[in-house]
Amino acid sequence: MTPSIMKPSSDLDSEKQRAAMKAAEYVRDGMVVGLGTGSTSKHLIIALGERVRAGLRIHAVPTSHDTAALARQSGIPLIESDNAWMIDVAIDGADQVDPALNLVKGGGGALLKEKIVAAAAKRFIVMVDHTKLVPALGGSFPLPIEVVPFGWGSTARNIEHTSGGKAVLRERNGVVFQTEAGHVILDLHMPKIDDPATLEIELNQIPGIVETGLFIGRTSILIVGHAQGADVTL
Ligand code: 5RP
Repeated sequence: MTPSIMKPSSDLDSEKQRAAMKAAEYVRDGMVVGLGTGSTSKHLIIALGERVRAGLRIHAVPTSHDTAALARQSGIPLIESDNAWMIDVAIDGADQVDPALNLVKGGGGALLKEKIVAAAAKRFIVMVDHTKLVPALGGSFPLPIEVVPFGWGSTARNIEHTSGGKAVLRERNGVVFQTEAGHVILDLHMPKIDDPATLEIELNQIPGIVETGLFIGRTSILIVGHAQGADVTL
């Protein structure tokens, strides 16, 4: 069945959908688009699929198997080679956004591909519902950190020593969560991340860490969905 614009199931989902519809407006004919992962990105893919079926010519780089499957189902041609991409715009959701437009991402476990694609794109558009806006990163949402399974306990101890937080191995239904790259995720609980840029640099020194969910200084455009439409911050 061809996906179509579905009725959102909640107010927050409608906010995500409005943000995604606005983000889709930034996609133009001939572009290569990085497609994020998560419920907001699903709305984007469905909206882009409708435009592709109406004649829009784009290619997309997916950030997860789920995103690739939905994009294929929606008729969006994918670039999945390992060549150096020329991505015009990457569009993705986020778990937290601070006033400087720094992000926490990785709630869905796709942070590694998401960061590679965001870093390869000329512009990075972030779409969220209003609950993702926070005065400071941390607190209500733990920071996802992708680590190699070998020695993950020692890596967790080093992360706790560096950050002062509590690193918890992510599980789903009692099973250790594995990323698409075969790594595991440590969710780092910190009451507040005072200096996200410094924390990212410090965490990147720790052996065993593959990538963190801190997206610092990467956001080109923020789109926040609300009851009537979507607000854009450049
Ligand atoms: C996945 C992500 C998502 O972008 C983030 O979790 C937001 O998800 P949603 O759009 O479902 O609220 O980082 O790794």
